[in-house]
Amino acid sequence: MELIKTISQMKKISSKWKKEGQKIAFVPTMGFLHEGHLALVRKARELGDKLVVSIFVNPLQFGPKEDFRDYPRDLERDLSLLEKEETDVVFAPSAEEMYSPDFQTYVEVTKLTQNLCGAFRPGHFKGVTTVVLKLFNIVKPDIAIFGEKDYQQLQVIKQMVKDLNLDVEIVGHPTVREKDGLAMSSRNTYLSSLERNSALCLYKALLLAEKLVKEGEKNPQKIKKQLENFIHGFPFTKVQYIELVDPQTLEPVKIIDKPVLCALAVYVGKARLIDNKIINP
Ligand code: PAF
Repeated sequence: MELIKTISQMKKISSKWKKEGQKIAFVPTMGFLHEGHLALVRKARELGDKLVVSIFVNPLQFGPKEDFRDYPRDLERDLSLLEKEETDVVFAPSAEEMYSPDFQTYVEVTKLTQNLCGAFRPGHFKGVTTVVLKLFNIVKPDIAIFGEKDYQQLQVIKQMVKDLNLDVEIVGHPTVREKDGLAMSSRNTYLSSLERNSALCLYKALLLAEKLVKEGEKNPQKIKKQLENFIHGFPFTKVQYIELVDPQTLEPVKIIDKPVLCALAVYVGKARLIDNKIINP
C-alpha cells in the first residue's frame, strides 16, 4: 500500500493505471475510519482492480461554527486498517495541497441542497461537491462508493455526476449500524456514555416512523410531531430537523402514499448526528 500526499503523484499513478486498462474504485473519506467506512472499502475492493481511499478533512464543507478543528483524526490507525483491506493507494493531501491561496472555483448543485442538512449547513454541500469533483479529477475513478447514511450527499453527488457528464459510476452502500442500531459515524466519538444511550433515539425514531406508516398514518405532520415528542424524551437531545421527503427530489411530501425518506438530524450533547430510512407504506 502506498501513501500519497501530492496531487501530481496521485495523478501520475491513476493515469498509468488508466493506460493499463485497470478499473479504479475509489472511496473518499475524512478519515478516523470505522466499520462503516471499511464496508465501503470492501465493496470497492470487490468492484475495482485498483483501490484508492482518500483521507482529507475538507475545510470547505465545515461552517465557521462547526467542528473542523475538533474533527477526530488518526492517520496512523487509518493506514493500518486500510492496509488490512488491501488498499493500493491512500491519498492524504494537506489542505494547502488541495487549496492554493488563490483558489476560487466552486461546484454547486442548486436544488437538492435546499432542504434537510442543506437548510442548516449553508455552503456545506458546495464544499462537498467541490472537493469530490477535485478528487475525481485527481484519482480518475471508474467507480466511487458513498454511504447511504449521508443520503442527501449521495443524491447530490449523483446529480453532479449526471449534470457534468462525469465518467464515474456512483454506488450507494447501506448504512452500517452498531448492534443496537446506532448508525456508525466518526462523530459518535464525541458522545459520553450517557449521551451514547440517548443517541439511539435516532434509530428508534426511524423505526417508530415506519411503524406509524405501516399502521396506515398518511399525514407527515402527525408523524413529525410524534417523532419530535419521542426524541424529546431522551436526555441531552435537541432536534434540528425531522423530515419526510420524496427519496429522489428530497422535497417534503404532503401525503404518504408511496415510498418516503424519513431523515433526521439531532444534536446529542455537542454531537450532531444524522440518520435516515426509506419507508414503504
Ligand atoms: O462523507 C464524507 O466523509 C465527506 O463528505 C466526503 C465525501 C469525503 C467529502 O469530503
